[in-house]
Amino acid sequence: MSKRQYNNRVMQWVEDRLPIISLMENSGVIYPTPKNLNYWWNYGSLAGVVMVIMILTGIFLAMNYQAHPTVAFDSVERIVRDVNYGWLLRYLHMNGASMFFLLVYIHMFRGMYYGSYKAPRELLWMIGVTIYLAMMATAFMGYVLPWGQMSFWGATVITNLFSAVPVVGTDIVTWMWGGFAVDFPTLNRFFAWHYLLPFILFALVFLHLWALHTHKSNNPLGIDAKTPQDMMPFHPFYTIKDLYGLGFFMIFYLYFVFFQPNFFGEVDNYIPANPMVTPPHIVPEWYFLPFYAMLRAVPDKLGGVIVMFAGVLILYVLPWLDTSKVRSARFRPVFKQMFWIFFLDCLVLGYVGAKSPDEMFMGIMTMTTLGQIATTYYFFHFIVLLPLLGKYETTKPLPNSIAEEVAKKYAQ
Ligand code: HEM
Repeated sequence: MSKRQYNNRVMQWVEDRLPIISLMENSGVIYPTPKNLNYWWNYGSLAGVVMVIMILTGIFLAMNYQAHPTVAFDSVERIVRDVNYGWLLRYLHMNGASMFFLLVYIHMFRGMYYGSYKAPRELLWMIGVTIYLAMMATAFMGYVLPWGQMSFWGATVITNLFSAVPVVGTDIVTWMWGGFAVDFPTLNRFFAWHYLLPFILFALVFLHLWALHTHKSNNPLGIDAKTPQDMMPFHPFYTIKDLYGLGFFMIFYLYFVFFQPNFFGEVDNYIPANPMVTPPHIVPEWYFLPFYAMLRAVPDKLGGVIVMFAGVLILYVLPWLDTSKVRSARFRPVFKQMFWIFFLDCLVLGYVGAKSPDEMFMGIMTMTTLGQIATTYYFFHFIVLLPLLGKYETTKPLPNSIAEEVAKKYAQ
């Protein structure tokens, strides 16, 4: 018998057999949360909402989509034009992908600013990086499905990168394609993966939250909660705050869905795939641009591929590269500046990724050179700056407790 008692007899009956009611209550109602979380802590739950929207709209799109090169493009057009509310499903899904990345990028930068990846939350962060990798794979394969020019050529360029692997490169590419070019077997298996991966992502998010709930949330001060006065129950305080943020986010998201549905897209993807005509500029979706810039920064193909993957994989070891004992940038004056330079560097990489390599930047240098500088700085930040800052930076004194700081703020 469960120790927890409920007035509702059905709830009690379930609880006695499977303590799922108390589990939900512990993790979503009475769950102790630091009382000083700001709006940057809304983005995890927002990402969760978008993940659910993506899975639901995806399932209904899949009911009408056909994964064959002769009909894939037309089947998507049919969804938009003829299927009841098909346009809504497609635009929610298409723009949802951009929103998902936008939210997750903000979520990641929040984690970097407040040192949320530091002990004891390293594994929570690493599961996050794995989620990010799964998101990238899912988005890449999803983009191939409408079988437009960008779908086809994007898939060709990116899969071809694996041919740079010594000795077995060409075999890997043939194996991925299921043939000797991007064609029906490729499209069909990408569809299968694109359907499967979001469920793996869902399971990873479950682990992510499990790890989060083990040590509870970090907070803007980056100090541990010591007494019950530092915390408050998740419901109603943070349920309301999350819903309030959700309202603003939905206005932003739905603006694109209803008024600018192709804002994040590429016109060339409304031209059916043609293996005989290469588009003049093959650009990936905006959320891949920084890594695309890294890929092109290295003149050697294999080198470019290694640097590009290293750009993501280095995030796994971030908790150990940053050696500072202090978590939050609020108490790390030099790190705070370095964080913003790093953020700017990522924007520069994204900008370079969108431009053609020999275009000039302000008449000073080519995009390739700018990309090389920005890529070097990206790794310099992780490998040199973070370890050194941890050692030599003079940090500001930390507050005694969350409760004390909150009381001070409201007294003011
Ligand atoms: C599907 C994508 C994701 C979902 C649904 C998700 C969900 C969440 C939620 C609900 C929280 C608690 C609320 C919050 O702190 O905002 C959280 C915390 C966290 N997430 Fe994620 N997350 C995702 C991706 C990521 C990624 C890609 C990373 C890092 C690479 C990451 C790192 C973290 C960290 C470090 C925390 C703890 C933050 C703190 O307590 O300060 N998450 N996540």
